[in-house]
Order: sequence, then C-alpha cells, then structure tokens
Amino acid sequence: MSEIDTLTALMRRRHACRAFRSGASIAEADLQAVFEAGRLAPSSFGLEPWRFLVVRDPARLPELQDACFGQPQAVTCSALVAILASVADMDPDSATLRARLRREHADNFAAGLAAYRQFHAAADVRAWASAQCMLAAMQMMLAATACGVDSCALGGFDENRLGALLGIDLEREAVALLLALGRCAHGPGDKQRVPLAQLTEYR
Ligand SMILES: Cc1cc2nc3c(=O)[nH]c(=O)nc-3n(C[C@H](O)[C@H](O)[C@H](O)COP(=O)(O)O)c2cc1C
Repeated sequence: MSEIDTLTALMRRRHACRAFRSGASIAEADLQAVFEAGRLAPSSFGLEPWRFLVVRDPARLPELQDACFGQPQAVTCSALVAILASVADMDPDSATLRARLRREHADNFAAGLAAYRQFHAAADVRAWASAQCMLAAMQMMLAATACGVDSCALGGFDENRLGALLGIDLEREAVALLLALGRCAHGPGDKQRVPLAQLTEYR
C-alpha cells in the first residue's frame, strides 16, 4: 500500500466515537505514540503552545463528564486528554517564549523577538494558541487510529468548570480541546461529507 493510501485509510477509519467500551484499557506505549504525534505538530513561530493533561483514573471521569454537559464519551473513555493552549508562556517577556524563539532565530534573535512582539500585541493570543492545538489534536487522533485506539474530539465543555476540576490556571492556559480515547463500542458509520467538487476551485 502506498503512503497516501495508508494515510487515507486512517483518515476514513477515524471517527468520532460517541460511546466507548467501559473498562477497556489503552497500552501506555499507544498513549505515548499519541502524545508524540501531538509533539511533532507544526506551530506558528515553532513555539509549540500546548501541553497535554491526561486523566486515566475512572473515578475522576464522572465529574469531568458533568463539565462536558453530560456527554457519555467523557465517562466511558479509557483516557481523557485535555489539550491546553499556552497563553501566559507566549508573552514576549516570558522565559519559555524566549527559549523557544531562540531555537528558530538563533542568528538574529533580537529581530525575531521584535517581530514577534509586534505580532503578539495585535493577536488574540488565546484564540491563536488554541487554533494551533487543533493541529496537534488532529495528528493525535490519526496516531490513535493507527494504534487501534478510537477517539472523540470534545469541544463541548464548560471551560471554567474543567479548569477548576483539573487545577488549570485559566489566566495562563486555555482548554483548547478534549480528546476522549478508548475502544469504541460502535463502528465508524458512513462519513457525511460535502462532495469534493463543492469544496475545491481552481483558478
Ligand atoms: C473541534 C471539534 C469539537 C468537537 N466537539 C464534539 C463534542 O463536543 N461532542 C461530540 O460528540 N463530538 C464532537 N466533535 C466531533 C464531530 O462532531 C465529528 O468529528 C463530526 O461530526 C464528523 O464525524 P467524524 O469525526 O466521525 O468523521 C468535535 C469535533 C471537532 C473537530
């Protein structure tokens, strides 16, 4: 099978799992492969404005399900991963930002920082960092599929409640997305998608 056929097959097989098989487990190696896929995602300025917070303790899931408006995936999954967008660490004066920017602008750090400072002043940093987390999330979901692990992206949650439950300082970080991971209790079903001809235009 060619690489594109393999990738397309993974993209077709990945589906939003609405109910996982309770009590199923995910191998630690598979979880690590999922995180590695997130780590390898591209990011603006190469700043990697994310981290991954994992809850595997089933006793903690019911309260998190409440914060997800009762969605069943959040309680039946084997692991719930919060993809946190770095907000405070993207400040031009933060040590993290400077260390990361230096990697990409080793030769002309001062000019890189000056350009970044201008960008940062104009940007909605919370939205910008969260958008990048979505790229990491997509890679993570495909990696999960490749490991035989099912997933569901969960954007339906109360961020303040999640922040309180998980001890996240929402001044410093945003909850970009949750990924519920586990073994799905149902199959992929048909993909409902707009035909390609309606999405593409050549000029
Ligand atoms: C950013 C984002 C947020 C989502 N939030 C939820 C959610 O809160 N609950 C849910 O059941 N599905 C959620 N989904 C899954 C979508 O409903 C699903 O991907 C879409 O219907 C297409 O189906 P498929 O993933 O099976 O191809 C979310 C997907 C994305 C990309």
